Amino acid sequence: MSPAVAEETVLTPAAWWESAVIYQVYPRSFADGDGDGVGDLAGLTARLPYIAALGVDGIWMTPFQPSPQVDQGYDVSDYCGVDPLFGTMEQFDALLELAHSLGLRVLLDVVPNHCSSEHPLFQAALAAGPGSPEREMFHFVHGPGGDTPPNNWQSVFGGRAWSRSNPSSETDLDWYLHLFSAGQPDWNWRNPAVGDYFDGVLRFWFDKGVDGLRIDVAHALFKAEGLPDSPYEGGVVDGLRSNPQVSDQEEVHEVYRRWRTLAEQYEPHRLLVGEVNLEPARAARYTRRDEMQQAFAFAFVKLGWDPEAWAAVGNELEAARQLHGATPTWALENHDIVRSVTRFGGGELGTLRARAALVALLGLPGPAYLYQGQELGLPEADVPLAARVDPMWARGGVCRDGARIPLPWTEDPALSHGFSLTEANGEPWLPVPAGWGGHAVELQEQDPGSSLALVRAALDLRRKLWGDGVFTADDGGIWRVEDGGLLVCERSENFLVAVAMGTDPVKLPPGTVLLSAAPLAEDGWLQPNNAAWVLRG
Ligand code: GLC
Repeated sequence: MSPAVAEETVLTPAAWWESAVIYQVYPRSFADGDGDGVGDLAGLTARLPYIAALGVDGIWMTPFQPSPQVDQGYDVSDYCGVDPLFGTMEQFDALLELAHSLGLRVLLDVVPNHCSSEHPLFQAALAAGPGSPEREMFHFVHGPGGDTPPNNWQSVFGGRAWSRSNPSSETDLDWYLHLFSAGQPDWNWRNPAVGDYFDGVLRFWFDKGVDGLRIDVAHALFKAEGLPDSPYEGGVVDGLRSNPQVSDQEEVHEVYRRWRTLAEQYEPHRLLVGEVNLEPARAARYTRRDEMQQAFAFAFVKLGWDPEAWAAVGNELEAARQLHGATPTWALENHDIVRSVTRFGGGELGTLRARAALVALLGLPGPAYLYQGQELGLPEADVPLAARVDPMWARGGVCRDGARIPLPWTEDPALSHGFSLTEANGEPWLPVPAGWGGHAVELQEQDPGSSLALVRAALDLRRKLWGDGVFTADDGGIWRVEDGGLLVCERSENFLVAVAMGTDPVKLPPGTVLLSAAPLAEDGWLQPNNAAWVLRG
């Protein structure tokens, strides 16, 4: 390490986000303040004390801005408003104020890759016709004729990534690009007017006091010049691989440099966290010093119960950190992926493993995100076919509804297990499965062995370890698998995380166990599917 770097490391105090744990709220399914069956801002505001009591540092709210709700709000028709489905701007202001007074930061979702086809600028582009400057805001392209789109790109949700702008017209032969559903046209970031427009969106929320933004599909804003065919079949931006035609273009980094500068014009500096669905080495380039502060470690989010795979991805992330200074941002769940209890085997086994994985996650070096319901150990629900609303499912992809079921607050099924906060009890927007009340917050609050109690204890201890200097922002992660399937991540000389991923009890490395996901059956030994934080002796 050069003296200059060493000096900088010593003098720069850790920013709040380096140690932060953020709780992801999917407002539709968190709490329903008006009883219409869809969660809203009033419901979330009423339940903020619950989130603060978890011991997290803030919340990330998925979109609540005006939207036709084709993709549950990821099709935004007004970036600077509140959809009446969720409430009013006054309610948002009140939410922000209460969150801050409870010590919670508030991050919002910004969706810069695409908007809703109902967005006024897309509507203006449709009306203005082929060749107009209005169409330059999006990717309108003449097809070769007939039913053949301009290139072979496929939508992430399934089906082709192109729709005719005006299928019945004989003069408007344009197609428009949508990497997701037809209701989500992609912005053309090669037009500087798009960047200027989004500067305004960022400023709007930052001026209000919003603490940061999660950036949706952050790696896909720029497409290769000329929109050439892709060599890949199937989904175009997801899949943890750089797709040289469709995403991860060099120009996109300029956007995040500009946004970082903008975020640092505010005090305190605002946080940018990216949904960068690329392999670790490419994703880390988005969190270089002058770009975003965080990007989710997606390679990790998708792992099964496999110690070799965890160690390999962990070491890849560590290599990327050493190269680019980008500490991984950990998550096991979000609103797009199968709940970890189910991913790790379901039932009691899945529950044990999900608890162990969560304990591991919270001990790793770097910030972490929890998804609502993860603290309750919710499994993925099997949503009946007729009740499914996910556009990804509708277009032939997987169904994400099972991770989006309303949260159970009470054991009693009345008012959809307490999801509705008023006497009104509209049908919840996704059906609540039988037995959901068994996971209820009120039950877990009384049970010292519950997932909820474990999460609170882990977060409390994590905060203390940061305070005591056992955890620092300079910690790294050296991963290995020991005999018997014991996964170890050495965070520093003082501390390691161990997860028993094999079938037999395994001996822990020497040290003091500070926390374990399940009680230890024997001192110094870890039963299968348990995890521990070890202060090394
Ligand atoms: C992101 C969101 C997902 C959404 C997609 C399109 O992946 O997390 O829910 O469908 O972007 O906006």
